Amino acid sequence: MALTKGHLARLRRALRPHLDGGWERAVFSTPERDGAREEKVAEGPGSGGADEAAIAGLLAAAEAAAQAGFFKQTLVLDARRRVQVDARHGRALQRSLDEATALKVMGGKERALRPDLSEGLLRAIGIMNADGTISARHARKYKQISHLSELCRPTCDRLLRAEPGRPLRILDLACGNAYLSFVLAESLRLRGAAFRLHGVDVREDVVSRSRERAAALGIEGLSFAVATIAAAEAEAAAALGGPPDLVVALHACDTATDEALALAITRGAPAILCVPCCQHELAGQLAASRAAAERAAPLPAIAEHGLLRGGYADLLTDGLRVDLLDACGYAVDLVEFVGSEHTAKNLLIRAHRRHPAAAVSPERWRLAAIAARCEALGVSPRLLRGLQAAAAAAAPSLSA
Ligand SMILES: C[S@@+](CC[C@H](N)C(=O)[O-])C[C@H]1O[C@@H](n2cnc3c(N)ncnc32)[C@H](O)[C@@H]1O
Repeated sequence: MALTKGHLARLRRALRPHLDGGWERAVFSTPERDGAREEKVAEGPGSGGADEAAIAGLLAAAEAAAQAGFFKQTLVLDARRRVQVDARHGRALQRSLDEATALKVMGGKERALRPDLSEGLLRAIGIMNADGTISARHARKYKQISHLSELCRPTCDRLLRAEPGRPLRILDLACGNAYLSFVLAESLRLRGAAFRLHGVDVREDVVSRSRERAAALGIEGLSFAVATIAAAEAEAAAALGGPPDLVVALHACDTATDEALALAITRGAPAILCVPCCQHELAGQLAASRAAAERAAPLPAIAEHGLLRGGYADLLTDGLRVDLLDACGYAVDLVEFVGSEHTAKNLLIRAHRRHPAAAVSPERWRLAAIAARCEALGVSPRLLRGLQAAAAAAAPSLSA
């Protein structure tokens, strides 16, 4: 639709009364086609007021955008107030994210991350649109990350209580795009808690993206580095200012989960939050040692058929991880972190060290019984091997 001079004059008249107090940004969108729309975002002077030059610039940009087909225009005045104008009609609609509207967005529940308080984070991780709305497509994701933040909260609260006055030190291993790091950082920021959070991943692209995102959000205490889990410890200690209080590993691939758990256990991290990913190690071992596996499996068919063997190997892997955490002094609880309709990898392992202030004593780890059980089952999990190696490395200094 081509706009006339009359349309443009109406657009100016609709926008002008809302500009003197300033605005955060203006969002110019094309109408939606097949569920998609194009969007241009122009940052504004902020909500502290605007001078005539900024106002003239915005009005000119709005006109140009409208002439290019970006009819739907939203002025985001601040976290709660929006003005929407459709250049084809020129009527301004003022919307405010009042409590009732916020509650509707939150699915009728009070959530850890509110759309009005965590707008920056929700936009940075692609859940909230530039105009402050959360589309139906993203509403589910929004609820998932809020839920994840709620599941992490008791652990963070407990650690903050244990060391009042010192920043909480969090190490995110195999952080990828680091959404968990950002969500944790945001929930701590909302509570006014001091923290340092360091994420490591072997992929340079995800690390530099996370650094840019952290800088754009202005979150202090967040840092990221390219490193393997095995090499993470040294530079993490410098970034965190000491050993981690909390080690997190969300969907770290296959045995990277075990490397993360081994690092946390051997350094005596007071708490661990871990969501295992796909796992292949034990399925391969069970296939290779079918005779032993068939003898030890609850039903021989479980070891014999690939599909059943895969499911059994998953359960066995996680079961042995829980056993090993317990044997190394951790109290463990398991929760479903998102519904199984979203991902089959939805088990959150929450582990707290029973005596967090005690020195790490590998000689007290009760690994022998688990090793015997693994032998009978025909498996040798990475985590067990890592812990056995750490215990063996500690042994000479014990006898010296
Ligand atoms: C499925 S992604 C999960 C990322 C992120 N934690 C999340 O949940 O969105 C797995 C990540 O683990 C990283 N990774 C795998 N093995 C690793 C290792 N040994 N050390 C560091 N990062 C590793 C990969 O580069 C990838 O980014």
